[in-house]
Amino acid sequence: MNFTPKQNPLILGIESSCDETAAAVIRGRELLSDEIASSAATQAKFGGVVPEIASRAHAEAVDEVVARALKNAGVCKEELDAVAVTYGAGLLGALLVGLSFAKGLAYGLGIPLIGVDHIRGHLAAAYLEDPSLEPPFITLLASGGHTAILYTERADKFRVLGGTLDDAAGEAFDKVARVLSLPYPGGPHVEALAREGRAVVPMPKMLKGHGGYDFSYSGLKTAVINYVHTKEQKGEVWSRADVAASFQSAALDILVQKTVEGARETGAKTVTAGGGVIANGYLRERLTAACREAGLKLVLPVKKHCTDNAAMIAAEGLVQYRLGNFSPLSLNAEASIPLVRG
Ligand code: KG4
Ligand code: ZN
Repeated sequence: MNFTPKQNPLILGIESSCDETAAAVIRGRELLSDEIASSAATQAKFGGVVPEIASRAHAEAVDEVVARALKNAGVCKEELDAVAVTYGAGLLGALLVGLSFAKGLAYGLGIPLIGVDHIRGHLAAAYLEDPSLEPPFITLLASGGHTAILYTERADKFRVLGGTLDDAAGEAFDKVARVLSLPYPGGPHVEALAREGRAVVPMPKMLKGHGGYDFSYSGLKTAVINYVHTKEQKGEVWSRADVAASFQSAALDILVQKTVEGARETGAKTVTAGGGVIANGYLRERLTAACREAGLKLVLPVKKHCTDNAAMIAAEGLVQYRLGNFSPLSLNAEASIPLVRG
């Protein structure tokens, strides 16, 4: 392989870990294109993601989405310096579609392949929002699979301060949505309903243990289920909007509080965030207000870069490119990857 590292390489990012087939092109931290095809509407009919349907949808879309990303970036594939692709965590069949495509492209063009951990992609989304962003910073990560407060000391070194002991925040939103007869994915629907209600229904404490950063969503979910069932059994009137608002503030206030505490404890002056739940308007407002009050700089990715996308995969690809971390063509897809490896 003929390889000379560049300061601002042209990187194609590909994401296919769940139900979005996405491709994006960046030059350095400049985003040139950002394409997405989603099978979420089909999946919604089943109340969740059906792996086989997701894999087929990726296989049908990947060629066209990548072509669109290159076209809208105004570049041809021969100009690319690297291909970054999600290799995990996610649905194996879905991941393999993007990974195989990326391998073929990288091999054919004689350029490096960069396997990206999806969660690190969510962390890297903030780099696109603020091209001057550099560690150290605290990140609030809240997605369908993970919820944690992380401290990034250097580009290649982060540690988990704490997080959920059971369900992830997004998972809790999806489960509560089901109880409230809202469609999948539940987060945006719970948020919309919560806007019409008031947080007046008592909810359990989120924090586990004394102080610290660990919290539990499973108790919160059970409290919502019990409240709804009891009201229905007794034939009492209850407000779906109030339940949504009460759940939402219980689920999200703790994240804001612990993120600010994390910054105070580590001395980090900058806060970033990533993952689908960060698209939540209530959370964005609360986090913005709390950071302003604490004198912290907040770098909040646009909503489109909080939920799954390929721009963040390209952004993490750039981090790895600059570190010289490339992947062999034998790289395999992984269903799960521990939050911090090594
Ligand atoms: O990051 P993401 O797109 O996929 C994973 O990597 O998991 O996150 C998806 C999760 C889902 O659970 C979805 O319900 C939640 O993010 N989500 C939201 C909102 N938008 C998406 N949760 C709360 N409020 C939202 N507006
Ligand atoms: Zn994600």
